[in-house]
Amino acid sequence: MNLMLFGAPGAGKGTQAKFLIEKYNIPQISTGDILRAAIADKTDMGMEAKKFMDEGKLVPDSTIIGIIKDRLAESDCKEGFILDGFPRTLPQAESLNELMSNMEISLDKVISLNVPDEFIVGRITGRRICSKCGASFHVEFNPSKEENVCDYCSGELITRKDDNAETVKSRLEAYHSQTAPLIDFYTKMNVFTELDGTKDVSEVTKDMINSLS
Ligand code: AP5
Ligand code: MG
Ligand code: ZN
Repeated sequence: MNLMLFGAPGAGKGTQAKFLIEKYNIPQISTGDILRAAIADKTDMGMEAKKFMDEGKLVPDSTIIGIIKDRLAESDCKEGFILDGFPRTLPQAESLNELMSNMEISLDKVISLNVPDEFIVGRITGRRICSKCGASFHVEFNPSKEENVCDYCSGELITRKDDNAETVKSRLEAYHSQTAPLIDFYTKMNVFTELDGTKDVSEVTKDMINSLS
């Protein structure tokens, strides 16, 4: 199954991807996680991307498309994958279609987690992510079982550098101007489904699994 999770920053894509990985045994491909790993490794690509990410701006399409091309070619993607945070622009979506058509595969579903802007700031400022596996938690809405320890891999929980009220504004702007037009693109491809992302984490998971069965 080839899936995509779509939605504003903080909509719950990363959170819900964790459930899909377990249920379908396919990998999550988060361009945000891949970029953060490149920053941690201090690669040239990571250092270049960091400038954009720290400002809440999108990283240039050419960088992102290169990342995805390499990642989809890896063997763990053969049975399917969950795209999280990609594509985010029309050129990225068009490149993905071309790439998938060359691989003779197609996108089964785009699941949009709908969360209005007014919910987003609270979600982002209370988020803690795992420094090892990238899993997302929230100090209030979705706490880890043990404080500051990841439920999945026991890694240490940290705050993302771009998770502050200032950067959230530019990330939301980028989402509305550059990413939201993809709703039309995927509706026309007949793969777009919308869910209410403001429900509790477990409710959203149920709705998502239902929409896939
Ligand atoms: P990225 O890492 O993708 O960040 P994002 O899109 O801003 O999305 P988030 O990770 O913030 O949100 P999410 O939907 O995963 O939410 P989560 O599940 O964590 O990208 C970071 C940056 O990298 C971008 O700004 C850009 O610069 C660059 N980049 C990445 N991909 C790119 C691309 N394709 N093109 C160009 N640039 C790119 O949940 C958020 C919080 O809410 C958590 O605390 C969680 O516990 C909580 N929560 C989740 N669900 C619920 C719920 N139902 N109720 C209450 N709380 C909830
Ligand atoms: Mg995420
Ligand atoms: Zn972890």
